Amino acid sequence: MTQATDQAMNVGVFIPIGNNGWLLSENAPQYLPSFELNKQITLKAEQYGLDFALSMIKLRGFGGKTEFWDHNLESFTLMAGLAAVTSRIKLYATAPTLCLPPAIVARMASTIDSISNGRFGINLVTGWQRPEYSQMGLWPGDEYFGRRYEYLSEYAQVLRDLWETGSSDLKGEFFQMEDCRLSPRPQTEMKIICAGQSAAGMAFTATHADYNFCFGKGINTPTAFAPTVERLEEAKAKTGRDVSSYVLFMVISDETDEAARAKWEHYKAGADEAAIAWLGLQGAADTKSGADTNIRQMADPTSAVNINMGTLVGSHATVAALLDEVMTVPGTGGVLLVFDDFLKGLDDFGTRIQPLMRSRRHVTGGMLAEVA
Ligand SMILES: Cc1cc2nc3c(=O)[nH]c(=O)nc-3n(C[C@H](O)[C@H](O)[C@H](O)COP(=O)(O)O)c2cc1C
Repeated sequence: MTQATDQAMNVGVFIPIGNNGWLLSENAPQYLPSFELNKQITLKAEQYGLDFALSMIKLRGFGGKTEFWDHNLESFTLMAGLAAVTSRIKLYATAPTLCLPPAIVARMASTIDSISNGRFGINLVTGWQRPEYSQMGLWPGDEYFGRRYEYLSEYAQVLRDLWETGSSDLKGEFFQMEDCRLSPRPQTEMKIICAGQSAAGMAFTATHADYNFCFGKGINTPTAFAPTVERLEEAKAKTGRDVSSYVLFMVISDETDEAARAKWEHYKAGADEAAIAWLGLQGAADTKSGADTNIRQMADPTSAVNINMGTLVGSHATVAALLDEVMTVPGTGGVLLVFDDFLKGLDDFGTRIQPLMRSRRHVTGGMLAEVA
């Protein structure tokens, strides 16, 4: 095990805007997304000192017995509601850039900046799943797979122009602005997340974004994402910009390692094969973005039950030690967490896991709790 550092870790929660969170399993908790559930989750996150909450945008589900992600709220409107009921935690919404013009996204962001008093930022996605957009006549054709980040670069330039100067005159290939105006502008610098993992996605992130979000990999291998961060570091060397990496992990924890393992095995035994098969088909559709896109990782049969994201399984002490280890990878700013059961998972994180973490001592007050 790599020696943990005393590097402070930021922690965010990827709130379940879609049904059943991130487990494609008949044996996992089955629930629909609602404002009330996401409010309880975000308030708990705020109570335990988490730094941010992010919601994704997903416009078409995977089907199967669990109707995986067939039920999804909309990200900006959800975050606007959460902005009104929280006071400290930072909030990020995801913009489906094929559906919403950048001038509208800039204005929605200004509005939520006002509701939240400067606690808002956005995650920019190009879209990787054709049926989400073709169902509404907004898929530009499969050539788009290879040009996604060219489109997003112009999009981000319009956003930055509007937020920073209040107007945009960009004459691009995809967007033509004519003295487009935005007022009021956000009160604080608007932060941009991008989770692009392909070479073009990384180049975009190094040029336009503030944070790179990436997939963790494997079971209890908390530094296996390091090569992805290295690729970002190479892209950053070309732009000279400061962009930190955040890693997505699922936490499955219990009183003992054995009990946590048993839960994980139970979820895997109930895998929704039809939903996973749909994911496999969608992941294979993009033949233009190169081998580095992580969409294919999501559908790999090894543990497609949670789209192959990095998974931390164990007792509270085990998970705390694994999370501390994440911070040994240079360039890492923190983690984005999902839980099998979000409400219990956050309580366990706040009261049992976080107090054992060296990387969260700035939140818990310095003293490390004794392992029970
Ligand atoms: C933490 C995280 C959040 C993401 N959120 C979304 C999302 O809300 N909607 C979406 O269509 N894609 C989402 N993605 C996919 C990425 O935007 C991106 O398309 C993917 O990582 C593949 O990289 P590439 O676009 O460079 O090929 C997310 C990925 C990660 C790791």
